[in-house]
Amino acid sequence: ESNNIAASKLESFSGVPEQQASIKGSAIMDVRHHVCAPDALAAMSCDALLLVVAGDRPDKALAAPLAAILKAALAGGDFELKAGKALYVHAPQGVKAQRVVFAAAGAGSATPGAKAFRSAVLKGLAQLKDGGAKHLAVAWGGDVELDAAHAEALVTAVHDATYVYRYTKPSAPAAGKLAKVSLLCRQADTKAVGQGLKRGQAIANGMLLARECANRPANHCTPTYLAEQAKKLGKEYGCKVDVLDRKAVEKLGMGSFLAVAQGSHEPLRFIVAHYNGAGAKVAPVVLVGKGITFDTGGISIKPSAEMDEMKFDMGGAASVLGTLRAVAELKPKLNLVCIIPTCENMPGGAAVKPGDVVTSMSGQTIEILNTDAEGRLILCDALTYAERFKPAVVVDIATLTGACVVALGHHHSGLFCADDAVAEQMLDASRAALDPCWRMPLDEEYDEALKSNFADMANVGPRAGGAITAAMFLKRFTAKLPWAHLDVAGTAWRSGAQKGATGRPVGLLTHFVLGRVADR
Ligand code: BES
Ligand code: MN
Ligand code: ZN
Repeated sequence: ESNNIAASKLESFSGVPEQQASIKGSAIMDVRHHVCAPDALAAMSCDALLLVVAGDRPDKALAAPLAAILKAALAGGDFELKAGKALYVHAPQGVKAQRVVFAAAGAGSATPGAKAFRSAVLKGLAQLKDGGAKHLAVAWGGDVELDAAHAEALVTAVHDATYVYRYTKPSAPAAGKLAKVSLLCRQADTKAVGQGLKRGQAIANGMLLARECANRPANHCTPTYLAEQAKKLGKEYGCKVDVLDRKAVEKLGMGSFLAVAQGSHEPLRFIVAHYNGAGAKVAPVVLVGKGITFDTGGISIKPSAEMDEMKFDMGGAASVLGTLRAVAELKPKLNLVCIIPTCENMPGGAAVKPGDVVTSMSGQTIEILNTDAEGRLILCDALTYAERFKPAVVVDIATLTGACVVALGHHHSGLFCADDAVAEQMLDASRAALDPCWRMPLDEEYDEALKSNFADMANVGPRAGGAITAAMFLKRFTAKLPWAHLDVAGTAWRSGAQKGATGRPVGLLTHFVLGRVADR
């Protein structure tokens, strides 16, 4: 296809030489499970033994000498059976592992779920941070058997805790030595646990890709760079990846996307990647990710405080690439199309101005009252483009509004979905992945806010309900599609001392996509 340009021929104005190496998978490649009885834990050969304990008398589930150590620590007040508590013991007598950590998953209930298990694992790992352990073994002291959800949670937690950003900070301490993780199960039937570990590995690799892309500064992670990453993924996993440039986007009539991109010297890209795991007639799941590699606000310029964080404004796009990687690794029998409109939002002599009216690919005209509401302007044309795939469902993912952060904070992503069945699937996926989202309203009444005297719609409404009116704007472009929208402005990255991308919502999206197989 003439629109499909080779990655090597694309030029970038970032002033940074083209990166040859693709973003690697995790260093922790060896993740497995073993059957191990409680009285064999002390003899387990590993560098660090992490015991997640639960219930009122967790020592009863253990054998000497570990039971005795735990009992004495509890009696001496050095450890408590409260979520968040952990105890490190170095080289205890009679235990083969040099390092032992007890981590409490809460008292009372003997059956904490995967969420409590993950929290305890993270607390336990914090005790081992900067240590020399290469092989970590994790055992579970609860009454219930470990299942797939525990296994998946363990893998994603270990990756989360050991991730280090080094790409533009080579002086950062090298990632820990941890290379092998063993999950010790009591039960003989470990099939589900094995599947959970595999899914966890795939999701962790997807999250790593999303995190690494999003953390890279905007002079490195340009639209061209994102297109290269997509091409590399395509090569690695045998997926077809098309990259459209400005000319092709003009031909398609994406006046709204073009308006956002016109203020920047950095060339725009429109990325379309296909994972084909089912027959050509099977309607695909389509994911659309907002890929603003830097959002200054344009002529409606943002205040300078914390503007650096707008390099994360391609977090939606990064999560779509991450999900593609996870799905391609797991090879489910379904079709997936990933669409990423990507550009910078810059002020300048050529930039779009407040009051300008543009014609979207759908034919609807838009009065751009605020150039900082650019995400919806690039997404609307991508959603119209998605129609050609006759999707079973379309989900867009975007760091769309500050209002969503005000509404939900940093724990839940905002879910907007007119279809109750799809909304339930999204919520189920978010619970299964421990990657929470919360459903928000989409009532007709909110549509009023987008009225314009000069176009079919304005791109902003009043401040109140800003996350909802943004979703209402996108809804006008999805009349022909079963559609859900995730506003990840509060969840795609952290600010402050822990500033950095989270890799969310790759877990949610991967579970959602996998769930669509069972669905048919
Ligand atoms: N990328 C921002 C949304 C954002 C802001 C995410 C802060 C995370 C933190 C988006 O493009 C934007 O600027 N939205 C505006 C919309 C407004 C002009 C209607 C906002 O939220 O202020
Ligand atoms: Mn903006
Ligand atoms: Zn933005």
